[in-house]
Amino acid sequence: MADIVDLEAYGKDFTADPYPYYAKLRAQGPVHRVRLPYAPEAWLVVGHQAVRAALSDPRLNKNWRAAGLQSDAGEESALWTNMLDADPPHHTRLRKLVAKEFTARRVEALRPRVQQITDELLDTMLAAPEGRADLVEALAFPLPMTVICELLGVPDMDREAFRAWSNEIVAPTSEQAAQEAVVAMSGYLVDLIETMRNAPGDGLLSALIRTSDEDGDQLSRDELVGTAFLLLVAGHETTVSLLANGVRALLQHPAQLAALRADYSLLDNAVEEMLRYDGPVETATWRFTAEPVEIGGTLIPAGKTVAIVLASASRDREHFAAADDFDITRDARGHTAFGHGIHFCLGAPLARLEARVALRSLLERCPTLAMDADFDDLTWRTGMLRGIEQLPVRWNG
Ligand code: HEM
Repeated sequence: MADIVDLEAYGKDFTADPYPYYAKLRAQGPVHRVRLPYAPEAWLVVGHQAVRAALSDPRLNKNWRAAGLQSDAGEESALWTNMLDADPPHHTRLRKLVAKEFTARRVEALRPRVQQITDELLDTMLAAPEGRADLVEALAFPLPMTVICELLGVPDMDREAFRAWSNEIVAPTSEQAAQEAVVAMSGYLVDLIETMRNAPGDGLLSALIRTSDEDGDQLSRDELVGTAFLLLVAGHETTVSLLANGVRALLQHPAQLAALRADYSLLDNAVEEMLRYDGPVETATWRFTAEPVEIGGTLIPAGKTVAIVLASASRDREHFAAADDFDITRDARGHTAFGHGIHFCLGAPLARLEARVALRSLLERCPTLAMDADFDDLTWRTGMLRGIEQLPVRWNG
């Protein structure tokens, strides 16, 4: 059997720029046995074709219990009672109850409000006397957070507290801190849902509390908590990084930036290329093998953890010519930034809308937008998500 690759041993360079490491692994094969943080033995899928095959294979599921894995911090929390942690038929049911809210048409109706929030955030940012700001704090974080809170009908949520718990859960600094965040987050959401049950409002959460589909199906308390958690976390953690990583890519490639400024009909394609080139989700949530499964010519035994590297698939030269080049005119279709198969991102239309509105407004209002730090000094969060922590920019010269 092949040697175990220890991804943790790759260190800081790997966090800052994992792509050359994935390229090396892909050159050796599409599937590797690895050691990951929190998983001493896992299987890493890195090739484009293998990634798509793995994501659509029903023998890879979300059932860590059946895989015989031990539970770890907060494993039994109601937070995990959500569609992304479920297999069919439970997944199908949970997804169906909210899917109608996220169709391209429903999302397009949010455009005026997304534009208004963007305009207000940019007004505040551009009022900074020195003409400089951290784009994450000024725009990339507050835009998606405000949009998802309003959509769910929780406009007054304590966003800073929520953000701190959410960051800790998706990129833990320690097992204990993650567990405390899970407990705090779930306590907060239980209270929130109880309050809304007593005094319903207009948003999606109130609708879900009331909801009955054609079969009279209703969400249980845990399902409501899990769904609220998933929508709030997935609704902002990722879009923050789409904007931050995407603007960083543009600033690092001035010819691409100039091409976009010269022709905004390239905008939608530029957003797809940002998703492909440096997408917010490096690795999909873990899957587990219910039985031995062959992927990309490698047999993964039953009961194993499988980590599917979306970021690697999107840079696979077998699928994308000159895959390491950032080119907003290329055909970026087939990128895996939103996943694939039954868990394909439900919020993709919303993420695309937010990115297109924010990017265009930012570039139009800041004709001299530039980096206000050395590209090499940017710091990256670690874990499944890939994102810059701060993006210092200036716009006055
Ligand atoms: C650029 C922004 C976004 C990216 C890159 C992204 C990426 C992803 C990916 C890769 C998955 C699949 C994960 C897996 O299979 O393990 C996913 C699932 C999901 N995303 Fe997103 N997402 C983004 C924005 C959003 C937004 C704005 C929402 C909305 C409210 C959202 C809601 C969801 C939900 C509910 C799922 C679970 C779907 C299911 O299990 O059937 N996402 N997302």
